[in-house]
Amino acid sequence: MKKPINTFVHCMNNRISGILTLAVVVFFSTTSIVRSQLPPIPDGQRLKTLAARHRILTGGSSDLNHNDVNEEAIIKNEFSILSSENCLKPYAMQPSENTFEFSRSDRFVRFCKDNGIIAKGHKLMARDGYLPKWMLDPKLTGPELEKILVNHITNVMGRYKKGSPYGEIKYWDVLNEVISYPCIFEKIGTNSEGDYLYWEQAFRTARTIDPDCILIWNEDNIEFDQPKAEKLYETIKRLKLKGIPIDAVGFQCHIGFHGQPIPDNTYLELIFQKFADLGLYIVISEMDVPDNLDSVDIYKNILTVCLNQPRLIIWQTWNVVDKYSWRKKENGLLLFDENYMAKPTYYSVQQVLENTSLKNSNLRTTPGLY
Ligand code: G3I
Repeated sequence: MKKPINTFVHCMNNRISGILTLAVVVFFSTTSIVRSQLPPIPDGQRLKTLAARHRILTGGSSDLNHNDVNEEAIIKNEFSILSSENCLKPYAMQPSENTFEFSRSDRFVRFCKDNGIIAKGHKLMARDGYLPKWMLDPKLTGPELEKILVNHITNVMGRYKKGSPYGEIKYWDVLNEVISYPCIFEKIGTNSEGDYLYWEQAFRTARTIDPDCILIWNEDNIEFDQPKAEKLYETIKRLKLKGIPIDAVGFQCHIGFHGQPIPDNTYLELIFQKFADLGLYIVISEMDVPDNLDSVDIYKNILTVCLNQPRLIIWQTWNVVDKYSWRKKENGLLLFDENYMAKPTYYSVQQVLENTSLKNSNLRTTPGLY
């Protein structure tokens, strides 16, 4: 009578061990697929290691919302700094008045902390396109907008200030794309020199909330010769003279976007030096180059100019792998392709980092690098 039961148990045991074996095989084969897709680059040749010899930080941007272990592996292996993409923008942070949405940003900052990567916050204040609808209500008065500005920066920056249990953001884009696009906060008014008061208030508030954080003014289309770059330079010069705490200027470098000209090395050297002479750090904050534009050479040329500028402290791309690039209609913009493989652009960047003289590295005092 017992025999059938034993046979049944035996049979079940076989099945269970069969399922377990299958699970183990699937797990390891999946893991090896993941591993084999990663670029076979020796640790000493990784971008963050090579960049550290120049005392600069290198990275890209991602909200880590793709649940993609391959993207995350690249970030962990190659980057010393990671910028948020959308999760820290005003529209994402404060979708309705006084309701702050920290879940995605907490995850972003925790990932950086857990992996020894510096978190860069993008962005505290920006042109209208990045603000939540309620902030754009035309009925809001100047004094009300001033309170909203201070409250937003206080809450968002305060969450990740030095010593925060949620993790720290050591670099913040305080202002983004406001020198030539409209922003409702202009309504607060201007100072005697015609500069918007909210520019001053944003940096002053940020400095008060976290005195150790590096405060960046980030702009698009200033990497080639046009009046906007000069306007930004003159504005920051005036504000610095008044003691407004602006630490760095961010050059986005979305190369060739909307047919914009390719930056010229001589001009770049000049404009970098002008901002450096104001005591600012220089940041390449969002670089991407479509492959149909000689991306290998463009990455090489711009990075070479960067390494020759002692005040340059960060060089980063916008996004990480081509498949998640925001420039969806263009092909191949970054250093890693759709299959997570290092592209010729990666090797071009690697070579520049390897072969450029380290003469400026002793002059660099990149915050957070050591
Ligand atoms: O989250 C919604 C989703 O729910 C919805 O289904 C989907 C439908 O389109 O949209 C999703 O939101 C999109 C969001 O990215 C998240 O993917 C928005 O439509 C889209 O407009 C938004 O684009 C971002 C853009 O800024 C506008 O905020 C890009 O990802 C982001 O890369 C881009 O980043 C900017 C920098 O902030 C400043 N410098 C220029 C740079 C490139 O434009």
